[in-house]
Amino acid sequence: MLAVHLVSFFFSKLQEDPTKKVDRFLYAMRLHDDQLSDISARFQAEMKKGLSVESNAAAAVKMLPTHVRSTPDGSEKGQFLALDLGGSKFKVLQVKVREGMGIRRGGVEMEEKTYPIPKELLVGRGTELFDHVSESLKDFLHEKNISLDKKHPLAFTFSFACEQSSLDQGSLLGWSKNYRARGLQGKDVVQALRDAIDRTGGMDIEVLAMVNDTVATMMTCGFDDNYCEVGLIIGTGTNACYMEELRHVDLVEGDEGRMCVNTEWGAFGDDGALDDYLTEFDRDVDAASNNQGKQIFEKMVSGMYLGELVRLVVLKMAKLGLLFDGHVSDALRTKGKITTANVAAMEEYKNGLKNTRDILTGLSLTPSQDDCIAVQHVSTIVSFRSSNLVAAGLAAILTRIKQNRNLRALRITVGVDGAVYKTHPQYPKRLHKVVRRLLPECHVRFVLSDSGSSKGAALVTAVAQRLASQKRKVDETLSPFRLSHEQLQLVKARMRAGLEAGLKRKGSTAIKMLPSFVYRTPDGTEHGKYLALDLGGTNFRALLVNFKKGLQQNTRLHHKIYTIPLEIMQGTGEELFDHIAECISDFLDYMGLKNARLPAGFTFSFPCEQTALDTGTLVSWTKGFKATDCEGHDVVSMLREAIKRRNDFDLDIAAVVNDTVGTMMSCAYEDPQCEVGLIAGTGTNVCYMEELKNIEKTEQSTGQKQGDKMRGEKKVGDAEIQKMCINTEWGGLGDDGSLDDIITPYDVEVDQTSINPGKQRFEKLTSGMYLGEVVRQVLLDLTRGGLLFRGHVTEALKTAGIFQTKYLSQIESDRLALLQVRSILQGLGLDSTCNDSIIVKQVCGTVSHRAAQLCGAGMAAVVDKIRENRGLDHLNITVGVDGTLYKLHPHFSRIMHQTVNELAPQCNVNFLLSEDGSGKGAALITAVGCRLRQELNNVDNLLSS
Ligand code: BG6
Ligand code: BG6
Ligand code: GLC
Ligand code: GLC
Repeated sequence: MLAVHLVSFFFSKLQEDPTKKVDRFLYAMRLHDDQLSDISARFQAEMKKGLSVESNAAAAVKMLPTHVRSTPDGSEKGQFLALDLGGSKFKVLQVKVREGMGIRRGGVEMEEKTYPIPKELLVGRGTELFDHVSESLKDFLHEKNISLDKKHPLAFTFSFACEQSSLDQGSLLGWSKNYRARGLQGKDVVQALRDAIDRTGGMDIEVLAMVNDTVATMMTCGFDDNYCEVGLIIGTGTNACYMEELRHVDLVEGDEGRMCVNTEWGAFGDDGALDDYLTEFDRDVDAASNNQGKQIFEKMVSGMYLGELVRLVVLKMAKLGLLFDGHVSDALRTKGKITTANVAAMEEYKNGLKNTRDILTGLSLTPSQDDCIAVQHVSTIVSFRSSNLVAAGLAAILTRIKQNRNLRALRITVGVDGAVYKTHPQYPKRLHKVVRRLLPECHVRFVLSDSGSSKGAALVTAVAQRLASQKRKVDETLSPFRLSHEQLQLVKARMRAGLEAGLKRKGSTAIKMLPSFVYRTPDGTEHGKYLALDLGGTNFRALLVNFKKGLQQNTRLHHKIYTIPLEIMQGTGEELFDHIAECISDFLDYMGLKNARLPAGFTFSFPCEQTALDTGTLVSWTKGFKATDCEGHDVVSMLREAIKRRNDFDLDIAAVVNDTVGTMMSCAYEDPQCEVGLIAGTGTNVCYMEELKNIEKTEQSTGQKQGDKMRGEKKVGDAEIQKMCINTEWGGLGDDGSLDDIITPYDVEVDQTSINPGKQRFEKLTSGMYLGEVVRQVLLDLTRGGLLFRGHVTEALKTAGIFQTKYLSQIESDRLALLQVRSILQGLGLDSTCNDSIIVKQVCGTVSHRAAQLCGAGMAAVVDKIRENRGLDHLNITVGVDGTLYKLHPHFSRIMHQTVNELAPQCNVNFLLSEDGSGKGAALITAVGCRLRQELNNVDNLLSS
């Protein structure tokens, strides 16, 4: 009490100038330029914190990406419905942007209706609030005679903080202002709106975009002014957005171009950053709000709180005897009795004082002239502080833009809306002046958004609509690549039927099912030094493998890689085998083994009809090979002849092996459960251990001599031998038309332009050599349809083979930013925009996804067959795998495994990656082959003696 008397005594001395005592009393609210610069610097730091992925979670200022990537360019058109929720009025609108005219030439028409929101809905259930919104929309359609039969695109201005992952999605981070509806926080409000529209029924509405009011305001003003790259609201709440460089927006992929960021600056200070600027009145306003501790900056600035701040100051001054002779009325004690409209009225140019008197009298007070002057001055200080704080925030944003663009001076326009800015007589002028004083080097123009935010929201929606229609068209193009579970089951069934047919019939079945004359997987007794030659993958390899008896881990391996030039792959057979012999000669020189006649295994990754382990007649070339005079010939003889022609070394070629078989053997050396070999590389193929009794064609095909040998082995070798490895050559599935229903026109194009049209249809859907080509065909089509590369079909795009597996793998890598995708495309001669890169990535993903699924469906057929062969309910089996697609692609293996699990649920399939290629397997087979040959020779000797 004593303190009150002392204060009133002190101030009575100054009574002659009523504004002075207010100045003194509200000293902390009168911010000078140094303080504003300090606040501005603090806000700049907050923005950085919000943008960075490391600090965003803890940041008070959320800096929300809006997915609006450009300001209007004048090409926007269409008719849109709009909802505007979150300001002082809830409105439903229709916005028409006339074709060919655009907004600039007055081509926009707007109709709107304000619908009151009952107070209880603001704090009731979220679903009820949204039901009211959607019922208002329906009422609007009726009233304006807008057809209910047609689909209407809709723009949604929702003026609250939402985390958006796209234009048409946004989860509510938290209510502010006077909203507090339950059950929506953390939920997608676009979905909530769609659900409400469904509940209301009778309307066909497509909610295409949701935008914050700041963004919509920037867009509205941006249409008339190209420099408008900031949106500002000083209304019930306060907030600002601006165009940020995408490279600084960590939360969104991509580095190129700009994106509008909704700062949600109302929350500046929520982490205490403004504590030293807060007054007791700010703390009281916060304490009495329905979101305590939140929106601290907003509570110092915006319309919802300014009147309240003035009331609390006046009340305190009255209580201290500084106003109304110490008299306080009940009305003055009541929250909300002084509004922001009152503040504006008190500061009116001519009638201000009279208005102040009327307002105070209305609060049952009897103010003197000095009281009126003092209270008016309180209003001025409170509202001046508001505009000063906004100026500080704005200065931070503009400084950031200037620095981003490395400019010394900046010319920019700020689009503004909100009741405080629009109705307070002095506010705009004061704001402009302070901003210009804080940033003398910037040329800042302020534009009032005269038609609210809905025009801007409609413009965003127009862009969204264009993107949505583009997305729909891309999706339509890609839909034939998306296989249903039923389709995959069918592929599995067809693969199974193909395997069975191949086992039964000799001759031209789609799946050849070639006997390999490999009867068992390694048993660890293999030992010795072997040469392995590996032809048919991406490269030719020569290897020297040394097996130490019983010591799997101690296998030593030396190898050298040789590329085979295209002209050799597609020249004459003699040239091809001469080239191989030359590579072998080089390798033997390199190893110093020119004179040792080493036993050798030849991995030859093409279909070969074998009559023994060491003979193989090439049935037909596949993949990129088409050397003449090879088909129908024994490749081992051809290699021997080439070696003979050189006459500088000799080899004992004991086995010719398909790469699948080599891979299976190599993996089986580590894991005895490995009885399947898979290649997913340049080509694709599978081999597996089949029961001899099921290989009906073997006896006919291999002839008497071979039959004897087989029996010989059964007799001489292992008495329990019952199986033989079959090289399926599953790449031929579909060559009889059995896959026609899933083959797309793009696959047909790839097939027709390949060197073996009509052949290896399954391989052309699933393997590395063709996936890039399928992608290229799709990209060509999308480009011709104007959906990609601005409709430009370039030479690069017309070049066959530009997308090698390694590029597909890189493009699809999740770790890669869009800018990197763009630079890969650029390296291939394809100039892409950010959106192009997204589409290219999507196409690659769809094509490789299908490949992995098809491969999985095929594998499911193989493992289920093995399970049934053995009469088991459940099979545990290992598949040895190799190939660049499997090894390099970021998603192929996962999707393939998943598909096998889904389609062969009774099999537990373990995939084991072959570490050393199929060469080691070929060496193992050679070891077995050499031993067998030795044993057979012994038998022959025994029989003949
Ligand atoms: C309007 C916008 O023009 O301004 C609203 O259309 C926005 O969406 C509003 O919220 C801000 O002002 P106030 O004063 O209504 O909160
Ligand atoms: C290798 C084998 O490891 O994988 C080759 O040794 C095989 O014989 C190859 O052809 C398959 O992969 P790609 O991707 O090179 O065709
Ligand atoms: C509140 C909201 C914000 C909105 C502002 C102005 O601060 O959180 O999203 O932009 O009010 O309406
Ligand atoms: C091709 C060949 C086949 C080989 C596969 C993987 O499909 O025809 O023999 O296994 O490619 O390299």
